[in-house]
Amino acid sequence: MIVCSCNVLSDRDVRSAVEAERTRSISQVYGCLGGSVQCGRCARTIRRIIDEALGSVSAASCNGRAQSS
Ligand code: FES
Repeated sequence: MIVCSCNVLSDRDVRSAVEAERTRSISQVYGCLGGSVQCGRCARTIRRIIDEALGSVSAASCNGRAQSS
């Protein structure tokens, strides 16, 4: 699904960039995908995708640590 119509970015594009860059910076995500913030209407959606992607990574890390100790 397209989440940023200005840069024509899908939720999958954003999730992949977040997972590759491990960043919570919206502008860094746009930069990684070759775009930039334009109208800003997608910012809340991008933020939610970032939080979901990095939240799940953190949970996985915590689970891994709990098993090793
Ligand atoms: S919809 Fe993303 S910058 Fe406009």
